[in-house]
Amino acid sequence: MIVAVDGTSASGKGTLAAKLAQHFNLEPLDTGLLYRAVALSMITAGDNLEDEEKAANHAASIDYKSMDSPRLRNSDIGVASSKIAAMKAVRLTLLDFQQNFAKNPPNGRSGTILDGRDIATVVCPEADSKIFVTANIEIRAKRRWKQLIQSDEPAIYARVLEDLRERDTRDSTRQNAPLRKDSDAITIDTSHLDAEQTFEMARKYIASRDLNRQRS
Ligand code: C5P
Repeated sequence: MIVAVDGTSASGKGTLAAKLAQHFNLEPLDTGLLYRAVALSMITAGDNLEDEEKAANHAASIDYKSMDSPRLRNSDIGVASSKIAAMKAVRLTLLDFQQNFAKNPPNGRSGTILDGRDIATVVCPEADSKIFVTANIEIRAKRRWKQLIQSDEPAIYARVLEDLRERDTRDSTRQNAPLRKDSDAITIDTSHLDAEQTFEMARKYIASRDLNRQRS
């Protein structure tokens, strides 16, 4: 089984994917981390974030197994990653890895679940279940702001809101694999749902898709 979870930044898609992975015994891949790792690698090397060739070289050499640096979650890396994610060469370099991951769940797993922006539309158009997660931008900004404060990263709400707005615009207006809902996907608006309610909606949807799949 392949589950595709796409959506806007801070919509709750990462939390949802992690809960679904555990429930359905799926191997998870947070694809945003791949783009974040490329951005961090470029910044660490002192490279210009607008240099597409260098960005593609960094993309070719990142190691998914060593992506546990807390720095990857910082907001400056989030903004930088959305810049390099607009580059065709970077997306192509990361595509193979994601598609291989999706099709080859490790032993014992019933499948894979990938979350990102273009999973249903580009990476896994054949996914068995497709979920698009979003929420009102002010609510998303408040959630992200709280997370940052709790992780001791100094944050100003107005700045967080501005960063999200900038990322939403860049992610959904870029030419290569823009953020958009696939026509086969269901939408879950998490503005007024908690993590458990969101999980329950998605769980029911995936279970019913799986039942149909087994019958056919
Ligand atoms: O999901 P997260 O906020 O960690 O993603 C960081 C950035 O990586 C996003 O703003 C987006 O530009 C990019 N991304 C993408 N395609 C994906 C996953 C993330 O373009 N599948």
